[in-house]
Amino acid sequence: MGLCISLLLSSPPKTASTNNLSNRTEFWSTTTTLGTTNSTAGPRSQFSEAASEYAGGIVGDSGLILESPNLKVYSFADLTTATKNFRPDSMLGQGGFGKVYRGWIDSKTLAPSKAGSGMSAAIKRLNSESVQGFAEWRSEVNFLGMLAHPNLVKLLGYCREDKELLLVYEFMPKGSLESHLFRRKEPFPWELRIKIVLGAARGLAFLHGLQREVIYRDFKASNILLDSNFDAKLSDFGLAKLGPSQEKSHVTTRIMGTFGYAAPEYMATGHLYVKSDVYAFGVVLLEVMTGQRAYNKKRPKGQENLVEWLTPELKRKHRVNHIMDQAIKGQYSSKVVAEMGRITLSCVAPDPKNRPHMKEVVDVLERIQCINVVTDRSSTKTTVASSSRSSPHHYQYSYRAGAAGRNREGGRLESLE
Ligand SMILES: Nc1ncnc2c1ncn2[C@@H]1O[C@H](COP(=O)(O)OP(=O)(O)OP(=O)(O)O)[C@@H](O)[C@H]1O
Ligand SMILES: [Mg+2]
Repeated sequence: MGLCISLLLSSPPKTASTNNLSNRTEFWSTTTTLGTTNSTAGPRSQFSEAASEYAGGIVGDSGLILESPNLKVYSFADLTTATKNFRPDSMLGQGGFGKVYRGWIDSKTLAPSKAGSGMSAAIKRLNSESVQGFAEWRSEVNFLGMLAHPNLVKLLGYCREDKELLLVYEFMPKGSLESHLFRRKEPFPWELRIKIVLGAARGLAFLHGLQREVIYRDFKASNILLDSNFDAKLSDFGLAKLGPSQEKSHVTTRIMGTFGYAAPEYMATGHLYVKSDVYAFGVVLLEVMTGQRAYNKKRPKGQENLVEWLTPELKRKHRVNHIMDQAIKGQYSSKVVAEMGRITLSCVAPDPKNRPHMKEVVDVLERIQCINVVTDRSSTKTTVASSSRSSPHHYQYSYRAGAAGRNREGGRLESLE
């Protein structure tokens, strides 16, 4: 999660500011209210709106809207115990919201337990310098406390004590898609890439399919977390918004996002649609295909923004093979590449109306996964072994020993900072 300074709303600076703790960026807009959007609409009204609209409902796609948030309320002392006093060696990472620690809790009561006993949890602690952290913290509690789906990370509880704001999540042992794609020396196997984007697509389709749709607004590789089975779960609902209801023509707001993932219409006008999430999804598809980051200012001029750089290639069918991650060549067939190119191109269409719904994207990716499995079975260089013939969703995963890793030190894949 990133910083966001609501106090400046009345006089926003015209320049974009970059959060130095993560590559989340705020893009400021002078437009705050359009259509019939209530000028008081903000995290608080959104919170109560969501609560009333979601109370008691059950929706399809194996997702649930919980009757009431069933979250454990922790004291700060509890979470100090669970993380051994926020010991640096238990830190999992750091984002714009603050540091994330591995802690231990009882698997039944969720009460803090001794390190090594019970189950692991990920505990996110707000950085005291984060001005807008409270709104993001509340949004996270609101959305993740209300929604349950196999492809959304589970929020177990929270703590609010004086200035301390913390969130307790299920622990995701395989980290994020971003860490596998860009921070490891070994190339990340293609079959897992497909499995992960399919899971993430299902999570997004669930949010977009709700009676009052939820715009996730922060879809990116670092927010796709992975369980022990490499099943994907979306995390970070700090920026999520309820989609426009019938009487509201659209939602506008402070423009926040991450360079390279934010949809062009959102950047230009502040208009936010579920299709803005579809654009960001297309960006992740392109990252997965190419092994290149969405935005890298160290790439040559004109290539910094991945979509701007590679859209012309996506449009020329015979060129799509050339943009694929060469480190995993042999793991994808030309048919799969062609299908991936097509769906990616439609997701990043400049006009949101021309982008597909996430349900359609799920269908396409399911087909791609089927073709892919057939290809992999006949391939000589399979790196992912299925542990169960009856279920292609269960994998034993291992990097190929001695695989030719890409040179990640060449400045090609550096982060935004
Ligand atoms: N539930 C979790 N289980 C395991 N690791 C987690 C969990 N949640 C977050 N992490 C790890 O903690 C780190 C920081 O996550 P965080 O969501 O705060 O920031 P981010 O997504 O990297 O950046 P941003 O602030 O731009 O969203 C990441 O490396 C992530 O992999
Ligand atoms: Mg995150």
